[in-house]
Amino acid sequence: MHSHGQQQPQKIAIPGVKHVVAVASGKGGVGKSTVAANLALSLLMQGRRVGLLDADIYGPSVPIMMGVNQVWDPNDPNTDMSVFPIEKYGLKLMSMGFWVKPETAMIWRGPMVAKYLTIFLTQIPWGELDYLVIDLPPGTGDAQLTLTQTAPLSGAVIVTTPQDVSLIDARKGLEMFRKVNVPVLGIVENMSYFVGADGKRYEIFRHGGGKKLAQEAGVPFLGEIPIDPQVAESGDAGDPIVHRVPDHTVSKSYLALAGVVSEQIGKMGTPTELPGLQL
Ligand SMILES: Nc1ncnc2c1ncn2[C@@H]1O[C@H](COP(=O)(O)OP(=O)(O)OP(=O)(O)O)[C@@H](O)[C@H]1O
Ligand SMILES: [Mg+2]
Repeated sequence: MHSHGQQQPQKIAIPGVKHVVAVASGKGGVGKSTVAANLALSLLMQGRRVGLLDADIYGPSVPIMMGVNQVWDPNDPNTDMSVFPIEKYGLKLMSMGFWVKPETAMIWRGPMVAKYLTIFLTQIPWGELDYLVIDLPPGTGDAQLTLTQTAPLSGAVIVTTPQDVSLIDARKGLEMFRKVNVPVLGIVENMSYFVGADGKRYEIFRHGGGKKLAQEAGVPFLGEIPIDPQVAESGDAGDPIVHRVPDHTVSKSYLALAGVVSEQIGKMGTPTELPGLQL
């Protein structure tokens, strides 16, 4: 019901999907994709049915991070479209990287991004999912707008790093979701500190900015993820750390994050049933 002001575009219900969670940031390279993949796997390891949608149409990360090397041509009548979403480690995955080589996507404009995201959200048979985690591209551009306007998002997780510049951008990300009435589930500080072989914590950057920003903005602080070369190595190897080394210190942080995220979503109750949209 929108009795006042601007009419909200009708949001598309994704049949069978209980909660859509976006992982976002204002700034690039802060670790959104890594957080999204490890969060999705952590939720799965906690017994949930989970999907991971890579909404980064120009620079998809999911194929490499999840070790899916095959590319399908959606326009070839011989392509078996029922392979989508791809299943890996028990997760359901969709990425533009499964369809065309990323170089090709670079020439597309905004409307193409919107078109493909809508297809991914509505024409891919996700099946019954507790969570569909969405890995957003950096910034506040077309993909973010399309997504926040079309998908019934339960909420957004904002990723930041401890540096001041990153925090400023995280603030912009927060503002964007507020404007489109998507609840911010909270802030996670990535690359927060380093744990040495001696078990000691080393605060490489000034740590704690994420918590401060969350307090200022009045949103929950969801947790801290340490910086560790094994995170990057696992991502490059196509087997995220929480799956590859579940008892690693960093993996424990991701599992804790997943616990807090599902708790936050639980607090918000069941999302309102939205009518499906015919495309
Ligand atoms: N906690 C961590 N410790 C060590 N390396 C990390 C950590 N988190 C992410 N990285 C590494 O940092 C790089 C950037 O991470 P990622 O691709 O997840 O960022 P992103 O925010 O999704 O980037 P983009 O804005 O380009 O989409 C990757 O090489 C990744 O492996
Ligand atoms: Mg990314």
